[in-house]
Amino acid sequence: MERIDKIIASALGITRSEAKALIRKKQVQKNGVPVKFADEKAALETDRLTVSGREIEYNKYVYIMMNKPKGVISSTDGSKTGEKTVLDILPQEFRRRGLFPAGRLDKDTTGFVLITDDGEFAHNILSPRKHIEKTYAAILDKPFTPADVKAFEDGLEIGSERCFPARLSPLSGDCKEAQVVISQGMFHQVKRMFAARGLTVLELKRIKMGALELDPLLGEGECRFIKNDEIALISDKK
Ligand code: URA
Repeated sequence: MERIDKIIASALGITRSEAKALIRKKQVQKNGVPVKFADEKAALETDRLTVSGREIEYNKYVYIMMNKPKGVISSTDGSKTGEKTVLDILPQEFRRRGLFPAGRLDKDTTGFVLITDDGEFAHNILSPRKHIEKTYAAILDKPFTPADVKAFEDGLEIGSERCFPARLSPLSGDCKEAQVVISQGMFHQVKRMFAARGLTVLELKRIKMGALELDPLLGEGECRFIKNDEIALISDKK
C-alpha cells in the first residue's frame, strides 16, 4: 500500500502539493469513490485510481531529473567526507527508499543528473556497450580549433585508454563555449579530453542524456519527475 498523493505525483510528473490539491478538489477517485485525504493509501496491483476520470498509469519505479548545482556530490552517502549529496538536497516530495543517482557528475559540474530506484534501467543506460549519448556544454580557457574537432572525432587517448569518437561543436562565435557529445562515462572524461588537447574546462554542465534535454525550467537544485514517454528518449537510439 502506498500513499495516494505520492502515487499521483509520481504517475503524473507533478509535485506532492499539486497532487494534494487535486485530491482536495475531489478530482482523484479510488475504485470510483472520491479520495478524501492525501494520506489515504492504495494497493498498486488491485486499486484503480483515476484523476479527472482518467485512469493513471503507475510505475513501479521513479525517474527524477535534477539540475545539479555545484558543490554537491553525485553519490548516495557523503557522511564520511561531510559533503552534501544529490540525495541530501532532493526536495521532500521526491524522496523515497532506494533512490540513487544513475551516473556521476563531478562536484563542480552542474546539470542533468538522473535519480532513480530502478537498478536495471540505470545499469542499462550506464553500460558503455549501450553508447547512450551524454551532451555537455563547456566553457574553455581558450578557443578550440578544427584540429580539436578532428581529434575528438578520431577518439582521443586519455591515460592508457582511447575514447570512443566524440562530437565537438561551437556554442559561441569565439569557440570558447563548446558542446561535447560523448557516449561513455569515464572518470572526468570531458575535462581530460580537453586537457589532452591543451585546453582547460572552466565550467561544465550536462545538458542532455540520450535525446532527453535538461528541462530549461529547472533552476539549480530543482527536480521534476521524468514522464513515461521521456524515459524512452534516454535509452533509445536516435
Ligand atoms: N566529464 C567530466 O570531466 N566531468 C563530469 O562531471 C562529467 C563528464
